Amino acid sequence: MSACKKVDQITRKFWFFCFPLSFDLADSSLEGESNEIMTNFEFKPQKTAAWKRLKTYADATTINVVDELTNDKERVEDFSIQCGQLKLDFSKNLITREIWQDLLELVSTSPFDKHREAMFAGQRINTSEDRQVLHTLLRAKMKDISDQSHKHKINRVSTQLNMVELFSKRIRSGGWTGVNGEAITDVVNIGIGGSDLGLRLAYEALVEYTQPVPRIHFISNVDGAALNATLAKLDADRTLIVVASKTFTTQETLLNSTTAANWFEQEIGLRNSQYSTHFVAVTANKENAIAYGINPNHILEFEEWVGGRFSLWSSIGFSLAIGIGIDNFKQMLDGARRMDLHFKTSPMNKNMPVALALLNIWYCNFMEFQTHAIIPYCERLNYLPSYLQQLEMESNGKSVSRGGETIDYKTCGIIWGQTGTNGQHAFFQLLHQGTVCVPVDFIAAINDSMSHPKHHKVLLSNMLAQGSALIKGQASTENAPHRYYPGNKPSNTILIDQLTPYNLGSLIALYEHKVFVQGSIWSINSFDQWGVELGKSMAQKLLDSKESRSSFDVSTSTLFDHINDRKTNH
Ligand code: F6P
Repeated sequence: MSACKKVDQITRKFWFFCFPLSFDLADSSLEGESNEIMTNFEFKPQKTAAWKRLKTYADATTINVVDELTNDKERVEDFSIQCGQLKLDFSKNLITREIWQDLLELVSTSPFDKHREAMFAGQRINTSEDRQVLHTLLRAKMKDISDQSHKHKINRVSTQLNMVELFSKRIRSGGWTGVNGEAITDVVNIGIGGSDLGLRLAYEALVEYTQPVPRIHFISNVDGAALNATLAKLDADRTLIVVASKTFTTQETLLNSTTAANWFEQEIGLRNSQYSTHFVAVTANKENAIAYGINPNHILEFEEWVGGRFSLWSSIGFSLAIGIGIDNFKQMLDGARRMDLHFKTSPMNKNMPVALALLNIWYCNFMEFQTHAIIPYCERLNYLPSYLQQLEMESNGKSVSRGGETIDYKTCGIIWGQTGTNGQHAFFQLLHQGTVCVPVDFIAAINDSMSHPKHHKVLLSNMLAQGSALIKGQASTENAPHRYYPGNKPSNTILIDQLTPYNLGSLIALYEHKVFVQGSIWSINSFDQWGVELGKSMAQKLLDSKESRSSFDVSTSTLFDHINDRKTNH
């Protein structure tokens, strides 16, 4: 970046902090960025007529969904949306047609429409970090784009994707060798959060599309036992480490990588292994990767306008592309693009991400349900709940508005979950008969060529039965109050024709856009994550022996002393 541009960006940051709402953040001097003046997206949802009416409904209405389903013959059809090979049925939710209309009015009176336009147009809607939010460009086609500056960006993205293709093909074909000439059989992706979860999710979900080697392993936690256990199984001569980190500053990732680099020295006497063909870095901060010792020719880049938890589609997807092959990786991009187009063009009442977002707002802000469960009836979607925890909670777990005001309504609830049928034998008791209400997203593939037809039939029957049991309930029989199921417990059902790369791409993009809609209505910036900084810096202080323990609370400093007193290896 030229010195001029740096100065320019610093000036802009200064102005942003002084005038967070009024300053025009679009800057024509930065290569080809949008010249449009950014609209003020501040919004007070609780001041709208729709919000007020929704409050009264929530206070006064008792909705019986089974009655609604019985009496309203069009309910299922009207409360269903199809996008490609994904179908959402949201008819089992605690809403009447009036409530649904008011939820639609809420989104229509919010700045969502303009905000969405601004995101796709590349305005700097991530205001606290002064960044564009353009992960959708990673899966866009030239024909989707009218803005010249975006064409330039797509060219860059396509060069980066070509590099991913080149590297991954060489690795898969055995043409990429370690220092002793051996082909790679095992790839260890070292990354955390957005540089890990999407890859794990997709690699497991798409295991059907992998080949026996190279195998992909994932290391995220700084817990050295996890790294040791993985490396212990591997042959250093045939191992490639992929260091995936947008910033290349993340403590866990760098420590794990350094330990892995030392492992090569112990195993095969290779010093500075991070410079060898045993290491590839994926990052938006090439300088840091070079300073860490990675060979500049082994660095795959992506752009700073790709948020960490939205980065699966960028070069961060490299380990996945090795695992499933570049063509399948591109299919995933196409599937995500399918959802982008649906999100951009479908009317509000038939827009899948909008529907998921509004229903969740209804439960979070009006019904005061605190949590939301993600239950995939597909073992291969095991990582979906964890992935969505980061996507939703890191994006929308905020209490300050885009304009810097403390907000007085709830934002993102707690996302949790597990695959069915396992969950049925663990926590479903609470879903059916507990004292809290937990809306559920049931997700399943209609066809599964990896499963046995008999098993798949049982799996899907269980899912449908659970959704129905939750909503229908069961009256108590005489002398058996414990057999009472109150029912009226809401759920969405998302059916996917088959778990292909394309459909997985659509599914992930669906939730990405749900997060966006909610952020628009809640008037928060869904694209920063300042809440993770304090803990990081305090952990650093504890590591720094010169730092006074007195800056910690007495409970923590006592625990710290206790650990030091009792630890056996110093
Ligand atoms: O936990 C904070 C966070 O910044 C996430 O948003 C991100 O996905 C993760 O850390 C990893 O960051 P990086 O890719 O820069 O190592």
